[in-house]
Amino acid sequence: MERTVEVELISEIASHLASGTTTRLAEPKHVPVDELVSDERVTAEANKLFSELPVVVTPSAAVREPGDFVVEQLYQLPLLVVRDSDGTARVFANICRHRGNTLCVESSGNAKVFTCEYHAWSYGLDGQCRSMVDAESFTGVDATQNGLVEYPSEERHGLIWMLPQRGGDLDVRSWLGDKLDDELADYTPHAAHVFRYEATEVDFNWKFGVNTFQELFHLTYLHKNSLDGAFFGNRATFHPFDPHSRVIAVRNTFPEILTQPEDEQALLPHTATIYTLFPNTVLVWQIDHLEIWQLTPMPDDPYRSVARLWLLTETETTTEGAQRHWQQNWDITRRVVFDEDFVAMKRIQSNLRSGALDGIVYGRNEPGLQHFHDQISANLS
Ligand code: FES
Ligand SMILES: [Fe+2]
Repeated sequence: MERTVEVELISEIASHLASGTTTRLAEPKHVPVDELVSDERVTAEANKLFSELPVVVTPSAAVREPGDFVVEQLYQLPLLVVRDSDGTARVFANICRHRGNTLCVESSGNAKVFTCEYHAWSYGLDGQCRSMVDAESFTGVDATQNGLVEYPSEERHGLIWMLPQRGGDLDVRSWLGDKLDDELADYTPHAAHVFRYEATEVDFNWKFGVNTFQELFHLTYLHKNSLDGAFFGNRATFHPFDPHSRVIAVRNTFPEILTQPEDEQALLPHTATIYTLFPNTVLVWQIDHLEIWQLTPMPDDPYRSVARLWLLTETETTTEGAQRHWQQNWDITRRVVFDEDFVAMKRIQSNLRSGALDGIVYGRNEPGLQHFHDQISANLS
């Protein structure tokens, strides 16, 4: 984050604390329930947003060495992410070209070659078809034309991005915009190691999962016991970087900044900085580590999702003390989000699907939610 931006944000937060305010939009927004949970809408969103827009697939740190791979799922598209022998990260459809079986059935690992368990066609780290068993039975079938289907991908800011369109052009800087791209660049070194990763199926549409991180005045209520007053509730900042956004949650240590000389004031130790990378990835900066949350619709049911969580650190965890420290962070994050936020999200979806309400309302103090909803609508039209 540029120093001028940091200084502006510090001053904005100080003024919110002094006047008891938060970033507010001009009006509350009334949202019809149909725009949140109708079959037509959730299906259209899943089909469109997860087939046309650039998305984060996994952190670079999940595939650090040549041969490292992870298997992921982007809605209905099964993916195999591999670091090839040149060090390039590549994103393939995890589908064998012979008869369409799933190629790699392990969730992660290191490989020199991928061999399909059905009839043993094999593929190199570059996706090229290396062997067809009983080649004589496939006369005229050209191995060089039967490599894995590869999607456009780019590594940027410690993340591997893809475009789920074969032959499309991916330019992450232009997708993020210059300002957000510059801001995220500073965080890359902090995302060097994956401490832990988990994918969990949850019983609500992916949007509700993203909503969890987009307003912070619930911290004082829903999390009153678990977060123990660590944050000011209704004092957050919001800034759009269309279609993405940034909200900043203010820790209760923030007033200490104001006693320091101006050139020593630092935002990061006294806030949690939260980026929504549209549509479905959320980066949360927590003082000394980065959490990445990602919510993706289940392939066969957009009212259910996969919630992915990565906890990333700057240095490798090699000591017992560090292991304990990061594990504690993992446990707190997981407990707060899964046991409190996601419980509420499951209830919200169920209640909205009941037909009892025609609509809900996003307050002026929930700009992240208003903005996110508007961006989804804009991308559907
Ligand atoms: S489907 Fe993969 S080798 Fe036959
Ligand atoms: Fe929360």
